[in-house]
This record gives sequence, C-alpha cells and structure tokens, in this order.
Amino acid sequence: MLASLPSLANGLAGLVAAFLFLFGLLRMSSPVTAPSGIRLAGVGMAVAVLASFLYAFDVSAAARPHLWVNIGLAALALGLGGGVAWWSGRTVAMTAMPQMVALYNGMGGGAAAAIAAVELLGGKAQGATALAATLAGALIGAVSLSGSVVAWAKLDGVIQRPLRLKGQQVLNGLVMLLTLALGVYIVLVALVLASAPLSLPVLIGIFFGCALVVGVLMTLPIGGADMPVVISIYNAFTGLAVALEGYVLRNPALMIAGMVVGAAGLLLTLLMARAMNRSVGNVVFTNFGTVSKRRKSAIKGELKPMSPGDAGIAMRYARSVIVVPGYGLAVAQGQQKLYELVELLQAGGVSVRFAVHPVAGRMPGQMDVLLAEAGVPYDQIFQLEDINDAFADTDVALVIGANDVVNPAARNDKSSPIFGMPILDADRAKQVFVVKRGEGKGYAGIPNALFYGGNCHMVYGDAQAVLVKMTEAVKSLGLPAAA
Ligand code: TAP
Repeated sequence: MLASLPSLANGLAGLVAAFLFLFGLLRMSSPVTAPSGIRLAGVGMAVAVLASFLYAFDVSAAARPHLWVNIGLAALALGLGGGVAWWSGRTVAMTAMPQMVALYNGMGGGAAAAIAAVELLGGKAQGATALAATLAGALIGAVSLSGSVVAWAKLDGVIQRPLRLKGQQVLNGLVMLLTLALGVYIVLVALVLASAPLSLPVLIGIFFGCALVVGVLMTLPIGGADMPVVISIYNAFTGLAVALEGYVLRNPALMIAGMVVGAAGLLLTLLMARAMNRSVGNVVFTNFGTVSKRRKSAIKGELKPMSPGDAGIAMRYARSVIVVPGYGLAVAQGQQKLYELVELLQAGGVSVRFAVHPVAGRMPGQMDVLLAEAGVPYDQIFQLEDINDAFADTDVALVIGANDVVNPAARNDKSSPIFGMPILDADRAKQVFVVKRGEGKGYAGIPNALFYGGNCHMVYGDAQAVLVKMTEAVKSLGLPAAA
C-alpha cells in the first residue's frame, strides 16, 4: 500500500534534516567554514521542526482530536522559545556563554523528559520495548535537566563551592539503583497489572523525582571549574534522551538530531578530557586542584614587573612575536585592542602570530571565536601542534590572560595536577611578557614557574587597559612602517 502524502513528506524532511545536520557539523570543523555550517544546521533544524508538524497529520484523525489547538500551542511555544533564544544569544557576554549553554542543554533534556511523561501518563507507550525506551529517555533527560541547572548555578556563582557529603558515592549509587528499580517496576506494572492503572501516575511521579535528584547529587560535588566538561557530558545525555524519545514517537528527524548531539557531546567530552590529560572519571569523581598542589617555595626566581609601555616598545623592535591568549583576555574583552596593537606591529614589519591552546579559556574554541570577533585573519591563528616548535626561534611570547596553558609544570613536575597536559612552550621564547592583573592563579589553582623565569617580565593590569597603553607607546615611537 502506498504511504500517505504527509508520511512521505515527513520521511523526506527527516532525510533532508539529517543531511543538513551532518554537513553543517562537518563544516563546523574549521573556523573558515564554521559560520556557514551553523547556518546549514539551523536550516536543518527548521526542516526537522516542519517534519514534526507533518508527523501530526500522519496519524489517524481519531488519534488527533485537538489537532489545530495543538498546532497552535506548538507554534506559540516555538515563537516564544525562538524569540527568547534569539534575544539571549545576541545579548549574552562571551564569558557567560558556558552558563547559557548549560541552561539550553538542560532545557533539551527537560523537553525529552516531558515527552516521556506525556507518553507514560497518557498510556501511549505500549509494549516492553517502547516502555523501556521511554523510561530510559525520561531518566537520562531528567538527570540532564537537573544536572545542567546545578552546572549553571555553579558557573554563575550562585553555588560557590563543591558540596560533598560523607559517603557521597554510596548515596549516589543507592538513589540511582532505586530509580532503576522503579523503572523496571513501572514496566512490569504497565505490562502485567494493567488493571491497576491508578498506581501508575504516582509511581511515574516518584520515578521522575528520583531521576532529578540523581542529576543534582551527581553534579553538586564537582568543582565549578570542571563544569564545561560536565555540561558536555550532559549534552551527550540530552542527545541520547532525545534520540530515545524520537524512537518512541517514531519521528526520524528527532532520532537523527538526538544521535548527532549525543555523539558530538561524547566526542567533545573525550577531547576536552584528553586536552587536560585527565580521564572523564577523574573529572566527575575528584575535586580538581585540591590535590598535590606544588608550593610556590619550590619555584626559584622572582617576579619582575615591567610597564606596558616598555613591553610595547620592546615588541615594536622585535622581529617576531607569538601571542598566547587565555581566559583573562575573554574576561577583559580585550580582543579588539589586541588586534589593534598587532596590526600596528605588523605594519612596522614585526611578524606576529597567534597560538591557541585547545582548552584555553573556559569552553571549546573560545579563543578562536574571540580572535575571529576581532577580525584576526584565520591564517594568523595557529593551533598548538602547528606552532609549538616556533617558540624557540621567537623574540617575544606575549602571554595575555593565560596561565595554565603555558605552565611548564605540565612538562616537568610529576606531582602537578596538570602534569602531562600539552602546553604552549612560551617559556622557550627569547623573551616573555605576561599580562595579568596580579598574583591570581589559573583554573588549576597552581603557581606557574614561567612567571619566575629569567626571560619573563610581568606586565600587571587588566588586559584591555594594558593593551591600550602598549598601543599608545608603540604609536608614540612614530617609526615609519617597514616596506
Ligand atoms: P587560566 O589558567 O584560567 O588563567 C587565566 C588567567 O587570567 C588568571 O591567572 C588571571 O590572573 C588572568 N586574568 C583574569 N582576568 C584578567 C583580566 N581582566 N586581565 C588580565 N588577566 C586576567 O586560563 P588559561 O591559561 O586560558 O587556561 C584555561 C584553563 O581552563 C585550563 O586549565 C583548562 O584545562 C581549563 N578548562 C578549559 C576548558 C575549555 S574547554 N577551554 C574547559 C574546562 C577547563 P589574575 O587574576 O592575576 O589577573
């Protein structure tokens, strides 16, 4: 028998959406093609939404008594959600981006859990497989929702420190076991004791409550600085939950989008953990930065301050400069001023390149985005493996708001929590200027021997203010631009 028109259109739209998601994702792998990749994936999402509307026409008329009311409600939700997302995406500060990602990710998990709740309470999930898939999606989605909200609170400073209880792991394990047991019990009650449906809503409610508690318990003990990795884990969870609910709803676009998000979240988690030389288990189960801290007294040398003007003039007379941006540059929003200085140096014949560490800042690609925002051409931006050997032949390494990603302890101090993490070899440059506000530590909370090295000078101050002073000093030289 021929499939109905909405059914055919729905299937086709799912296929087109899948192609656009995957092709868009492929283009996001390079900063040059990333903007068009994001637009393509956005079009894919619009097609997937359209497919979901078409799906509504694909079910029998008896199963959709309130079709137009539901479509109106869905359109209203889309308008409201899309509007809020558009406004918040345009106004959010670059440094608050991880919080926003946490919230939006939590909403994805919550949406998957809500679909599961409707399916379960409405008795629509029929049969053991559909019930198990719905409950699995509900559990993973609810954990992702409450866990992401706690991650947001930690990143935003609402929750200031990790909250650890004695026997935390045992408690987490017990609540998880209770939730799983409830899930199995619900499947059995629904399949075997279908005559006692009244007990189901209560059980389902308790199941959701327990799943939300699991998310909170899992996230509370983890340090705020590890939240980007945790959000990435929850991102993978959300994708999986959405894919499971897509299976239950027989919506191919939802299934494919969920699987793409799940796989991308998982890969991102592994890449972030690898770039920090830590396992995912280490991120989730240990309190990073509180163990084996190297004491400052173990570091020889002294901090040597230098004025921004002197550092700027030294760079103007250098042949080559490598700029190492870090989290502090994002905090100071100094990217425009940085590129202004770089353009001035380049006009004077200085070779200037940018070295980006894979986990510089607080979220993947943060430095690439900052530099792109300032208009730095992509061919001047180099990733760690492509530029590290060049430091030894470079006159000046300008480390601006970066700390851990240039800490030599990662290379030579086995007791350091960052030992083994690949770093940018800024300490091997002939001269190093470090721009930071004071004695503040980096994310790992450990001292940095680079700052005490014989070739290093500290240029104290907010990155943006320092860059303005450096630029003024270079301009004041008034030297003719090199041919
Ligand atoms: P950090 O090690 O965090 O160091 C940033 C430095 O910037 C601080 O020492 C701070 O010193 C300085 N700073 C802060 N505000 C400033 C301002 N307004 N002007 C000038 N300096 C300022 O940064 P990093 O080197 O980029 O390393 C990133 C760290 O985050 C790594 O340890 C990485 O593992 C971790 N991490 C990254 C990610 C991703 S995906 N990027 C995810 C999780 C964790 P003062 O206070 O003295 O100014």
